[in-house]
Amino acid sequence: MCGIIGYTGKKLNAKNTVIAGLKNLEYRGYDSSGIAVNEDGNINLYKAHGKISNLENSLNGRDVLSSTAIAHTRWATHGEPNETNAHPHKCGSITLVHNGIIENYVELKNELLKNGVTFKSETDTEVACAYINYIYITEKNKIKCLAKACSIFRGSYAFAIIFDDEKDTIYATRKDSPLIVGLSDEGNFAASDVSAILDFTNKYILLEHGEFAKITKDDVKIFDGSENILEKEVKTATWSATEYKKNGYDHFMLKEINEQPDVIEKIFSRYLENPNYNEIDFSKFDAIHIVACGSAMHAGMVGKYLFQNYANIPVTVDIASEYRYSTQSITTSTLVIIISQSGETADSLAALRLAKDKGATTLGIVNAVGSTIAREADICIYTYAGPEIAVATTKGYTSQVAILSTLVINAMKQNSMLSNDLLNEIKNDFNNISSILKDIIKNKDIYVNAAKKIYEKNDLFFIGRGIDYAVCMEGSLKLKEISYMHSEAYAAGELKHGTISLIENGTPVIAVATNDDLYEKTISNIKETKARGAYSIFITTSNFDSSSFEDFSDISVILPKTTEFCQAIVVSCFLQLLAYEVAKLRNCDIDKPKNLAKSVTVE
Ligand code: M6R
Repeated sequence: MCGIIGYTGKKLNAKNTVIAGLKNLEYRGYDSSGIAVNEDGNINLYKAHGKISNLENSLNGRDVLSSTAIAHTRWATHGEPNETNAHPHKCGSITLVHNGIIENYVELKNELLKNGVTFKSETDTEVACAYINYIYITEKNKIKCLAKACSIFRGSYAFAIIFDDEKDTIYATRKDSPLIVGLSDEGNFAASDVSAILDFTNKYILLEHGEFAKITKDDVKIFDGSENILEKEVKTATWSATEYKKNGYDHFMLKEINEQPDVIEKIFSRYLENPNYNEIDFSKFDAIHIVACGSAMHAGMVGKYLFQNYANIPVTVDIASEYRYSTQSITTSTLVIIISQSGETADSLAALRLAKDKGATTLGIVNAVGSTIAREADICIYTYAGPEIAVATTKGYTSQVAILSTLVINAMKQNSMLSNDLLNEIKNDFNNISSILKDIIKNKDIYVNAAKKIYEKNDLFFIGRGIDYAVCMEGSLKLKEISYMHSEAYAAGELKHGTISLIENGTPVIAVATNDDLYEKTISNIKETKARGAYSIFITTSNFDSSSFEDFSDISVILPKTTEFCQAIVVSCFLQLLAYEVAKLRNCDIDKPKNLAKSVTVE
């Protein structure tokens, strides 16, 4: 949610540097953007509605050499996306960009209004800016001024700030929204994440809550709120700049779908027999809670199915934004598994902190190395899927499913529930998964033809049972988030309890049936929808008798049969490609769907 970059230095043009960095942050929000630049001693603000390219176009021809700049790409929370609400905001001698939400901004605004302060925008950020300025009138020590303001702000924030009387210095601080400080010989940076600075440096410092950075062209100092200097570790980014490029693909989503064969294969070989897993003794826990948001929660549903059906361990799956305010019993005997690609999702982080407060053991399944959830969880298992830029997750999700599969296999070993035969079957799947996924991707005609049949429809339903229901939830989310086509996923047996009333002539129903025991039940449910006019796309596996498919399906898709430890990944890969093609046919902005942002760092 919102991307921040600031740069100060002599060797690079600050304006061009922050615009280049900002483009790598665009996945965090893209409804407006802006930049504040020190141009010949004046702080000038430029803003544009919409994508960063609009800002770039509006700046074309302005070649004033600049030494310091802060920039922002926005995902609107308070106030509609327009130039007035876009960051940076300037109040008195303070110019700043912000990621997060200042929850007590109304109260602070009223206090400022009484003191004669006026506002131009509808944002909480302008209030924060004005409030810092208000404190700065009497507290001239900048670190102390910021510490005081932050002690009053409620909510979450990452700020990059320029004071008028020190125009070549950037001050930065954060709480519950990420911020790093980048270090290079050409100057120094503040940024939401390393992707923004990788074209210039891979060295950075992680700023923590309660820390304040003073960034100049040749020096960086980190202080606590009492202005004590803190020693901080300088880290080296593990991801490279090329991983943030499309590398010839039309979209990041397609690139990331294509990376899955490699990513999943590596996870299975890295984690299947990983000795570190032995530190997770499943017999110690009375309950397992899986907590996550969006697709990560759908991965959790697959995990729940596998834990319950194969390791005989009961699991609950909760949406993090609900779990964090629930009264359910979390005890010292609970294992709370938090799943998050970004490792920064605000609700998932809050759920993790709640679980820790209650004394539970917390396990993070995280992609972004060094992210907050990765750092704060008692145990962190990295998916190592590489940076995921497309807002719609693909390899992020399947890699979470892969990790959960290996965890369940480990739990089965501990319970003595894993037979040699099953282990051999699983190993066989793990050896073949890369080529299975590559084949699915290669067989373009299948998903392109299916996409052509449905892309003009307004509503669509997914149905499945057991693990297929969990997969349908994700397939449905993928389709709606990138194609804006209304879609819902139902447990196949549940449709007739109300929703079947929406099925009419030609309504597409995508049915997934991969489980031997539930196959016939799902077929009956498909027939119920066919009897009411549904256009049926049937997704199944090669072990079932295809001679009957025509009786109940308009299109049938036969995918390789694997154990259920891989099956969700196999079907999901196909559904991702289907969603991608539908979105393409509907001319949607696939990597940056409207209203969304990649990293949801607000509640
Ligand atoms: O970074 P996280 O895994 O915590 O993100 C969770 C969700 O916001 C994310 O999966 C979201 O649902 C995706 N846009 C789905 O494609």
